[in-house]
Amino acid sequence: PAPTLSARDGALWLEELPLAEIAARFGTPTYVYSRAALAAAFAAWQDALAGRRALVCYAVKANSNLGILSVFARLGAGFDIVSGGELARVLAAGGRADKVVFSGVGKTRAEMRQALLAGIRCFNVESAAELEHLDAVAGELGVRAPVSLRVNPDVDPKTHPYISTGLKGNKFGVAFADAPAIYRRAAALPNLHITGVACHIGSQLLDRAPIAEAAQKLRDLVEHLAADGMALEHIDLGGGLGIRYRDETPPPVAEYLAPLLEVFAGRAEELCFEPGRSLVGNAGLLLTRIEYLKPGETKNFAIVDAAMNDLARPALYDAWHEVVEVAARTHAPSTYDVVGPICESGDFLARERSLAVAEGDLLAILSAGAYGMTMASNYNTRPRAAEILVDGASAHVVRERETVEELFARERTPG
Ligand code: LLP
Repeated sequence: PAPTLSARDGALWLEELPLAEIAARFGTPTYVYSRAALAAAFAAWQDALAGRRALVCYAVKANSNLGILSVFARLGAGFDIVSGGELARVLAAGGRADKVVFSGVGKTRAEMRQALLAGIRCFNVESAAELEHLDAVAGELGVRAPVSLRVNPDVDPKTHPYISTGLKGNKFGVAFADAPAIYRRAAALPNLHITGVACHIGSQLLDRAPIAEAAQKLRDLVEHLAADGMALEHIDLGGGLGIRYRDETPPPVAEYLAPLLEVFAGRAEELCFEPGRSLVGNAGLLLTRIEYLKPGETKNFAIVDAAMNDLARPALYDAWHEVVEVAARTHAPSTYDVVGPICESGDFLARERSLAVAEGDLLAILSAGAYGMTMASNYNTRPRAAEILVDGASAHVVRERETVEELFARERTPG
């Protein structure tokens, strides 16, 4: 939960605003973010890296709203992108191209061109074939492409299988053993400039050991490359630090980083990180209103106006998000499944929660700042939620609620 969330006389506030007031002004469902919580999360990373040449590249995929990106840009963040669309967002929000790293296994030639013209910091290349494409595109433009190879350190991050990325069996990065040969190939290609090495082993990491093991493997590789005449400018350890959704105990940033700083102590390369969830996850919540209470024989349902199209994580990963009443608890509590109006049994946001609520009451679904809005869809022709950034006692609409007309504006009847 956001450090800036508080209960005052039993009612929930974010920073200096009651959530009930936000719902009254902007409607529901609405994503609500705390600027102070974003800044505090970023400061935790900066402080933990103080004294080390380092760059924190916020992973845009976690939450790509321009308002959020602009907050991080002003704080001096770099950005980790995975598409030309995300690059356009970063630039539109005032982010600097020379602090952008471009990850992803399927970069198109058009995206490479766009990123080369923008002057990004580097491409995190994920295959030998991508290296050849990038060399060709850079050659056509008459520029040299900055290249960092994403290696797969083959460590088990001990997280959900859908979000673990550093094991041999998955599509990300190049095999560790193949890396030296691919670096030699990169050095031989005329339009590439080797700048670094990268890895990312998975998301929602709660244990420090796997990333420390990956860091050691990376250091061995960096030393091997240096002996081979390939000096690097930076070492990118990816994102992945987990957050507390329920009762998890992720290490504080400084503790997560300590063994990594130790592994690279005395090395001159800049250290880069690509945190997403740990910067935004607990800075946001999804505000929703109860449309109906539906008592049943085996289960009671609280049917709300948010659904799996707004927040897919429960349906997709069986993820647990804390649900809290926005008003002071006056009713007797009962156990509810909190579900949306979508025609799928998988359309639930939370199951078996004790809630003291009545029809029309507001609920806050917590820890929804990361992979919430960015994974939202329009299933059931549901316009996507509004997004509000709270800053002290002010509320900025950082995204207006979508309209139904916008949803079919590009469609045509065949006539
Ligand atoms: N860098 C790379 C190359 C990544 O693939 C990711 C996330 C990140 C950085 C940021 O990782 P973070 O610090 O946020 O863990 N939709 C899933 C999470 C997918 C993560 C994909 N990659 C979820 O809702 O849990």
